[in-house]
Amino acid sequence: MRIWAVANQKGGVGKTTTAVTLAGLLSQQGHRVLLVDMDPHGSMTSYMGYDPEGDGSSLYSLFHGGSGPVDEMIRKTQCKMISIFTASTALATLDRQLGTQDGKGLVIARGLAQVNDDYDYALLDCPPTLGVLMVNALAACHYLIVPVQSEFLALKGLERMMRTISMMNHARMQPIPYLIVPTLFDRRTRASGQALDNMKERYPETLWNGIIPVDTQFREASRAGRPVSLLSPRSRGSLAYDELLQDLLVFDLPGSRAKTG
Ligand SMILES: Nc1ncnc2c1ncn2[C@@H]1O[C@H](COP(=O)(O)OP(=O)(O)OP(=O)(O)O)[C@@H](O)[C@H]1O
Ligand SMILES: [Mg+2]
Repeated sequence: MRIWAVANQKGGVGKTTTAVTLAGLLSQQGHRVLLVDMDPHGSMTSYMGYDPEGDGSSLYSLFHGGSGPVDEMIRKTQCKMISIFTASTALATLDRQLGTQDGKGLVIARGLAQVNDDYDYALLDCPPTLGVLMVNALAACHYLIVPVQSEFLALKGLERMMRTISMMNHARMQPIPYLIVPTLFDRRTRASGQALDNMKERYPETLWNGIIPVDTQFREASRAGRPVSLLSPRSRGSLAYDELLQDLLVFDLPGSRAKTG
C-alpha cells in the first residue's frame, strides 16, 4: 500500500477535495483505496455520508489503544473500491490529552501497517493545523501533496507548511517527497495568475506544472457524496485531477527520484 498525505496549514485550500477526487480516480483505475479522515471537523467523513458527531468506530479509538483490529474500524462507502477511516469531533481533544507522549507520532503508521495488504493506496486528509494528527500523517506517508489556493494570502500558509516539512524531515529516516499543487485557479482573475507566478519563482523544483481550476462541479459532487470523477468525469476539475494523478503515479514510484525540494 502506498500512503499519500494531503496537507497544508491553511484552511479551505482544497485538501479534502483533492483527497476524495484522487480516491475516485484511483478507484476507477481498479485500485483499492482507503480514505483516512484526520481532521476533527470530519469534512471528509461527512462528504462520504457518515456523521462525525456520531460515536462509531473512528481514529480516536486508535489513538487510545484501539477497540479491536484496525480492519474492523474501517467502513465501506457507497463507492465500491473506496473505504474510509472516519473522523469524529473528539479528535480535537487529542493534542491536549496526549501532549508530547513518546510513540504517539507513529499511531497512524502502525495502524495502517495492519491493513497494508488490503488496499493499494491510503489517502490521509489532514487538518489545517500543526498538531499530533498532522505529525502522524507526515510520519506515515510515502508522499505528500500540498494543495495551495491560487491567491496571495495562501502563500503565507505555504511557507508555514514548508517549515513543518523541514522539521519533520529531521525526525524521519528519509525526507518527505512532496508536490505543491495550485488549486482553485481562476483564469479570469489577475490574482490567480500572479499567485502562480510567485509560486513558480519560489518553488520551481516542487511545484506541479498544472493547475486545478475553479469548477462548480466540486460542490455538486460533495453534495452528492461522491468524488467528482464519478459524478462528472468529463468536467474540467475532474480532468485536471486526472492529469495530476498521472504525474503522482510517476513521482511516487518507489525508488524513483522523487521531488523533495
Ligand atoms: N477546484 C475547486 N473549484 C471550486 N470549488 C472548490 C474547488 N476545490 C474545493 N472547492 C470547494 O471549496 C471548499 C473548500 O474545499 P475543501 O473542503 O476541499 O478544502 P480544505 O482545504 O479541505 O478545507 P479545510 O481546511 O476546512 O479542511 C469546498 O466547498 C469545496 O467544495
Ligand atoms: Mg478539509
